[in-house]
Amino acid sequence: MNLIREKILFAEAFIKEFKDTGSLFATTKFAALALCRPLIDASNNSANKPKRVLEVGPGTGSVTRQIIKHLGPEDELLCCEINKKLLDTLQESLEGNPYYERNKERIHFFHGPVQDLPEEVKYDYIISAIPFLNLDPEVVKEILEKYSRITCGDKVVTYYEYSGIRALTLQFARGPRQRRFKQLDEYYQDLHQKYLIHKKQVKKNIPPIMVYTLSFQGN
Ligand SMILES: C[S@@+](CC[C@H](N)C(=O)[O-])C[C@H]1O[C@@H](n2cnc3c(N)ncnc32)[C@H](O)[C@@H]1O
Repeated sequence: MNLIREKILFAEAFIKEFKDTGSLFATTKFAALALCRPLIDASNNSANKPKRVLEVGPGTGSVTRQIIKHLGPEDELLCCEINKKLLDTLQESLEGNPYYERNKERIHFFHGPVQDLPEEVKYDYIISAIPFLNLDPEVVKEILEKYSRITCGDKVVTYYEYSGIRALTLQFARGPRQRRFKQLDEYYQDLHQKYLIHKKQVKKNIPPIMVYTLSFQGN
């Protein structure tokens, strides 16, 4: 599938499923690399062990295409996507990609909300693109609690939000939107105090994003 068709499909998902899609543009390579950083560092480590990776919300695959470059010969990847059309298109577009072909037998796809993912399997890395700021605080909490149950040991979760949106909305929004953001902000402050291990701003993205890395170790 060509790049223009992918962009149109992503924009269509944004218009039809605004709450779930959360953005008009797929993330840039710079943003994708920042989201994959813990996985890339582990893959470059000489004591590299087999890893299980969960990607949540791959969309048209801008982050997936970086993840698969860094999968080792025993690593596994599960891509979980709520939007069937995006998931089908992703699978179709990966065919022929040399990194996909090399790892194909260990790459799986789950159609549905991540909340429905079975919990028997635990993941070393969760790379999440869910647009949390569009969701109700209870749903954000439900998803992050799910992540904490399906990661193991000191393993990590990366996710992002658009830089400055939370602060601006808190200051200028009124009514239910402001209340929702206040609850989200309180939740994030508590979450970050307990589990945040790294954060990095990526300016080369539209719009710029802040990538957060959490570790639920000891939870
Ligand atoms: C902001 S887009 C990111 C797409 C792509 N990863 C990127 O970085 O450009 C968010 C994606 O998350 C998916 N999504 C939203 N809520 C989800 C959920 N609860 N479970 C799985 N996927 C979800 C959307 O359908 C969409 O593809």
